[in-house]
Amino acid sequence: MNILIAYASTEGQTRKIARYAADYLNGQGHTVEIAGAEDAKDAELARFDAVLLAGSVHAGKYQKPLVALAKSKAHALDHVRSAFLSVSLAAAGDDPADWEGLSACVNRFAEKTGWTPPTVMHVAGAFRFTEYDFFKSWAMRWIAAEKDQEVNPGENKEYTDWAALKKTLDGWLAGG
Ligand SMILES: Cc1cc2nc3c(=O)[nH]c(=O)nc-3n(C[C@H](O)[C@H](O)[C@H](O)COP(=O)(O)O)c2cc1C
Repeated sequence: MNILIAYASTEGQTRKIARYAADYLNGQGHTVEIAGAEDAKDAELARFDAVLLAGSVHAGKYQKPLVALAKSKAHALDHVRSAFLSVSLAAAGDDPADWEGLSACVNRFAEKTGWTPPTVMHVAGAFRFTEYDFFKSWAMRWIAAEKDQEVNPGENKEYTDWAALKKTLDGWLAGG
């Protein structure tokens, strides 16, 4: 298949996930194009058999360039096999309230963009203390403490389940 992966990433984990997905799908015999959300705005989606948009949650929202891309391509996305990959820390846990929050984030994204993704992949992200400024670092340490997660400021902590991601991608491409 000819696949487009367009992503937005604030601290780099979604970029890493998008690249991993691209490498994996390439290895499976697919032709994969990967682009940042800004660069993907000129892409002709009809050229692709499948399109994956990926972004991460920050204070309940996805990156603006990703929202803009989904909005401008909403119609085209409805005519191709498409999926939304949402990266967050809430997806690392099993707190029902957190998962409700994630659904609400995706619903708001769908309302804002006019694109209701037929497939949504929730993927756990990472604490990336090496990318945070003082205030972000402070806020994220507080969040980690709230969730009883042990973190070392200055050290990144990754929750992404790479094996599960591969299975999710396989399921998406195998589905009708
Ligand atoms: C300032 C800030 C706000 C965040 N807000 C949320 C949030 O509301 N919900 C959540 O589940 N994760 C939240 N996260 C965690 C990110 O989604 C997670 O770190 C993800 O891996 C970031 O992906 P990126 O590196 O591609 O930007 C937040 C992270 C930061 C730094």
